[in-house]
Amino acid sequence: MRPIIPLITVCFYTLLSSGTSSGDDRRWLVSLIDLVELDYQDQCGQRATATWEELIGNSKGLSLKLERDKAFGIFARQQKTDVRTAFNSHSLTADDDILRRRIKLLLQPGDSLLEPEQWIRLVTFADTSLNHIRFATDYDCGANGNCTLREMHNSLSREQDEDILKRMKASWEKKLPNINEYLDNILPILRNASKENLYNTVEEYWDALVEYEGAMLKAREIWDHVKPLYIKLNKYVALRLKGADAVGKPIPIHSLRSLTGDDWSNLIEILLPKHSDIYQKVYANLHLMDMGGLNAYKEAEKVIRHLNFGEIPPEIITESDYNGTCPSTIVDWCQPNKVKLVTCKDVSISSYMEAHEVAMKIKYKLIAATHSNNTYALREAPRYSAVYEAIPGFVSLLSMNPHTLDRAGLYTLDRFNFNPNYHRLVLQLLIALRDLPKLNFYMAVDEWRLQVLMGKIPFPKIASSWSEFRKNFSLIESSNVDLLGDPYVLSNKPYIGKFMGLILKYQVYQSFAEELMSDDGDLVTHVSENNQRLIDTMMQGYAFVWTEMVSDLLAKRENGLEYTGLTDYFRLLDEYLDNQLDPASENTFEEYVDPPTEVEPDENEIPDDNKAQDYIAEKEEVGPPTHEDINENIIDTDEETHVKTGSDASTVGVLEIKNPVAASDHNENVNPQEASYNVYWWIGIGVAIAVVVILVAIIARKRHGHRKQLERQRRQNSRA
Ligand SMILES: *[C@@H]1O[C@H](CO)[C@@H](O)[C@H](O)[C@H]1NC(C)=O
Ligand SMILES: *[C@@H]1O[C@H](CO)[C@@H](O)[C@H](O)[C@H]1NC(C)=O
Ligand SMILES: *[C@@H]1O[C@H](CO)[C@@H](O)[C@H](O)[C@H]1NC(C)=O
Ligand SMILES: *[C@@H]1O[C@H](CO)[C@@H](O)[C@H](O)[C@H]1NC(C)=O
Ligand SMILES: *[C@@H]1O[C@H](CO)[C@@H](O)[C@H](O)[C@H]1NC(C)=O
Ligand SMILES: *[C@@H]1O[C@H](CO)[C@@H](O)[C@H](O)[C@H]1NC(C)=O
Ligand SMILES: *[C@@H]1O[C@H](CO)[C@@H](O)[C@H](O)[C@H]1NC(C)=O
Repeated sequence: MRPIIPLITVCFYTLLSSGTSSGDDRRWLVSLIDLVELDYQDQCGQRATATWEELIGNSKGLSLKLERDKAFGIFARQQKTDVRTAFNSHSLTADDDILRRRIKLLLQPGDSLLEPEQWIRLVTFADTSLNHIRFATDYDCGANGNCTLREMHNSLSREQDEDILKRMKASWEKKLPNINEYLDNILPILRNASKENLYNTVEEYWDALVEYEGAMLKAREIWDHVKPLYIKLNKYVALRLKGADAVGKPIPIHSLRSLTGDDWSNLIEILLPKHSDIYQKVYANLHLMDMGGLNAYKEAEKVIRHLNFGEIPPEIITESDYNGTCPSTIVDWCQPNKVKLVTCKDVSISSYMEAHEVAMKIKYKLIAATHSNNTYALREAPRYSAVYEAIPGFVSLLSMNPHTLDRAGLYTLDRFNFNPNYHRLVLQLLIALRDLPKLNFYMAVDEWRLQVLMGKIPFPKIASSWSEFRKNFSLIESSNVDLLGDPYVLSNKPYIGKFMGLILKYQVYQSFAEELMSDDGDLVTHVSENNQRLIDTMMQGYAFVWTEMVSDLLAKRENGLEYTGLTDYFRLLDEYLDNQLDPASENTFEEYVDPPTEVEPDENEIPDDNKAQDYIAEKEEVGPPTHEDINENIIDTDEETHVKTGSDASTVGVLEIKNPVAASDHNENVNPQEASYNVYWWIGIGVAIAVVVILVAIIARKRHGHRKQLERQRRQNSRA
């Protein structure tokens, strides 16, 4: 493809200089953009191959990846120049939005516009550091001596001894790159990248990459409202880890059994409330079923099919690599169905949820590629979209839904219906330990980098400022260098898009949960029958700025980011934490926390301890369920009635939300959604005229096939 572009450009200029009509201009511009995008696609494939080789530990992998990544920067600059020259001599009409967007994405691709020397410095730093961390084999795993990163992650999740944990983290920190090199030569490149993309400050530049004006300001505002819950969780962790004296003091990261402190899931067992049947069973079943790696992804694929998003081609799942490390990495060749992932085969609730999120990310890519008429730039835009994070995140929330757990054979619905509030609390805790520390970490890392770049931290203090900042901002005691273990930090990427995605996913959840007639309805089935707004959003890819799609995505309930989705979701947990932290209420709690589920109830055995009711009655002030509902659930000893209660009472499916919307609502929603998609489609048809006929034919055929598939699915739904 490469030789064609200069040729086309030459033709293009010849035509221009010979004075053509503006229709011809436009056609040539479109052809040029198409070819630039094809060339990008070619680059994407080559880089993906190199990335794959590097990730699976091929000895030549790193050098191949470095070569491809370095070349990419030079390539992107060249393409920008070509597009800029062509575009300058042409003015687009008002209805050329899609073309305008493609051009914008090519003109402002982000960091790859850096001068070659700086770009090369950046990718060399990031690639080699990550490779080094990933493949070192002499981490300190305590008693077992030297180990790999994956083994260390494993030991970290089990180790109790503080000193050994400390040693582990120290051995990991030895593998991190030099902080001074980072501060002198890598982080400041961001200023130059901002300029190359025509922004004055890094903050503006990041706002532009996440395509949200005032993104940092908005994130700060949201964080202010999430922070109280985070602080409570932090204090509760301190209380359980080190006792009352430690509450409110920074917690050392290694005590969190984490390396960067962005995920506290490993602590779950010491944080569980007294009655944690659901955790014990899910944990045991995951291990019994060996539900890690390939198996977890197969299960996730089932959930995605159940949600009516269609299948993930089996070869994607089977040809992926499960011998790697977590978190998972997706490698995308930017070609039809050519995506793979590298992940670990650890069995844990956390990786199980992650599998759902990552599998959905892959599905998202496939849907954007097949369903929409998107071009490369509109599919793979170098932007940080919160919607792209939120929809897969939403699916990971669904993986812990009672009905989903039941279908996966991890925890039966019958059992769940005995003491739903106990179980809901445990599930919320599991989810909170993953998400709240992440929100905080994302915010901390971005804020700190911006402060350093804006010169807000006195120069001599910079090298020791991360731990200071983290202490204040996160109530965590970190070292000055541990942030260098993070891929986004190493490659100067902003976290703000992920931050917003995490917030948005709870809004998506809420928008569906509120539509359920009763709280114990099957949310996954409901979503599957009303998934059009999700599919519509995914089909657009990056054709629109994500903020423009939020309103439709949330069924017009909200048109922007709101923290309330998250805080509503965690209401029960919030109340529980209050009880635990307030010494005055602690006694009350101890009273009612007596043995209800210590009598390990199974389907035939019903707990008869009235104290259980007391406990839940107390809880009832917090959550939506009414006293009567709970009494029904607890007292009822008849097996059959139980099942029935399961479908009538209002405690199960939706964690906190109760605001039923008439069932007919969703039907009305379908049509406007489709209409807006049609408009988009027709606009596109206009643009299509200029492009290579074969391409159009191929895409049209795919599209047709897909429509049929959707149609079929819809018919099946209405039958079901
Ligand atoms: C770990 O590896 C280092 C060198 O990489 C070696 O010196 C040391 O003896 C090893 N320790 C154990 C316990 O194997
Ligand atoms: C340490 O070694 C023992 C046996 O040698 C093994 O059972 C255990 O899983 C290992 N622990 C880790 C964390 O690798
Ligand atoms: C930013 O660009 C300027 C001008 O090209 C250069 O002198 C400076 O070294 C660059 N900054 C970094 C951190 O490379
Ligand atoms: C993964 O590891 C197992 C055992 O360590 C090995 O048999 C298998 O070939 C590996 N698979 C890949 C794709 O490397
Ligand atoms: C600590 O955080 C507060 C607000 O969260 C801020 O006002 C204060 O300046 C910070 N202190 C330091 C030393 O960063
Ligand atoms: C979003 O809704 C609020 C009121 O609900 C309104 O004030 C605001 O203008 C809307 N924003 C957009 C972008 O539509
Ligand atoms: C549809 O695809 C063609 C060919 O890639 C393209 O020219 C046209 O702009 C696309 N339409 C939309 C709406 O994206």
